[in-house]
Amino acid sequence: MIHYKELGLVNTKDMFKKAMSGGYAIPAYNFNNLEQLQAIIMGCLESKSPVIIQVSKGARDYANQTLLRFLAQGAMEIVKASEHPIPVALHLDHGDSYELCVSCIESGFSSVMIDGSALSYEENVALTKKVVDFAHKYDVTVEGELGVLAGIEDEVSHEKSHYTDPDDVEDFIKRTGVDSLAISIGTSHGAYKFKLKPGEEVPPLRFDILEEIEKRIPDFPIVLHGSSSVLPEYVKIINNNGGDLEGAVGVPEDQLRKAAQSAVCKINIDSDGRLVVTAMIRKEMKDNPKNFDPRKYLGPAREELKKMIIQKNRTVLGSADRA
Ligand code: G3H
Ligand code: 13P
Ligand code: ZN
Repeated sequence: MIHYKELGLVNTKDMFKKAMSGGYAIPAYNFNNLEQLQAIIMGCLESKSPVIIQVSKGARDYANQTLLRFLAQGAMEIVKASEHPIPVALHLDHGDSYELCVSCIESGFSSVMIDGSALSYEENVALTKKVVDFAHKYDVTVEGELGVLAGIEDEVSHEKSHYTDPDDVEDFIKRTGVDSLAISIGTSHGAYKFKLKPGEEVPPLRFDILEEIEKRIPDFPIVLHGSSSVLPEYVKIINNNGGDLEGAVGVPEDQLRKAAQSAVCKINIDSDGRLVVTAMIRKEMKDNPKNFDPRKYLGPAREELKKMIIQKNRTVLGSADRA
């Protein structure tokens, strides 16, 4: 067992407390490889933002759980040696079992999500409580989820969304002891969040449900998944360079900015990073057909991802200059 504090990581407790009172949200960026992690860490150091770096079950399977953990450990050495260190939490995204959460906690994660949202309410309560009981022995924070987000990802897939029922939240947090709660108010996973007819606008998030939840559990940290904006400039680069992402659409940034000013303390962004990387690689490949050095297309992708992260921290999350 290695405890996260030995690695210089923090749990999410203090981060969320400051985000709540400061009216901003902590960015939670997913990573699967070296370049994504470099971009996240360098982008957050440069913008002086606290950050949650998160790993899904799919990421662990793809990159090897040991290697991912050492990548995160290496990133922490860079953070500690920097002029202005920032708080970093290493988080399991969409943990689907008690065993997976325990394995992550034992290998140095400072925070885990147990996603029981597809279970019955009582099963969700029981599983979440079991994870909380273990995690809290090690001062690891736990995110639970109530309500179901639509969307299709490799490991996370639901056809239809069910908004979180405000009547459930108080009972759920009391009985489970979770430290934060992911809710469903109209966001969804992936790059096709809304099916729009020509001329139709993206429907607004259900801020009425969020407000009702805030009334029931005042000052409790709320998490938004599925919060990529699917930035049109990157979709355009992809489509102009051999890709086909017709109809890709995300959550408008002004809606996320509004959410960040509320009890929403953590905003999850994965697809936007995937789009940036794909756009830059496609462009580099097309512009330089003779190149076969991966550094020459992964490098620009990493640089653009870092820029996007700085921009998000400054203008969407409001987390820049808060570390
Ligand atoms: O919400 C899901 C995240 O974007 C992770 O996706 O399971 O394909 O790694 P993944
Ligand atoms: P996006 O697909 O909108 O980036 O959501 C990511 C997410 O919720 C990770 O848990
Ligand atoms: Zn998610």
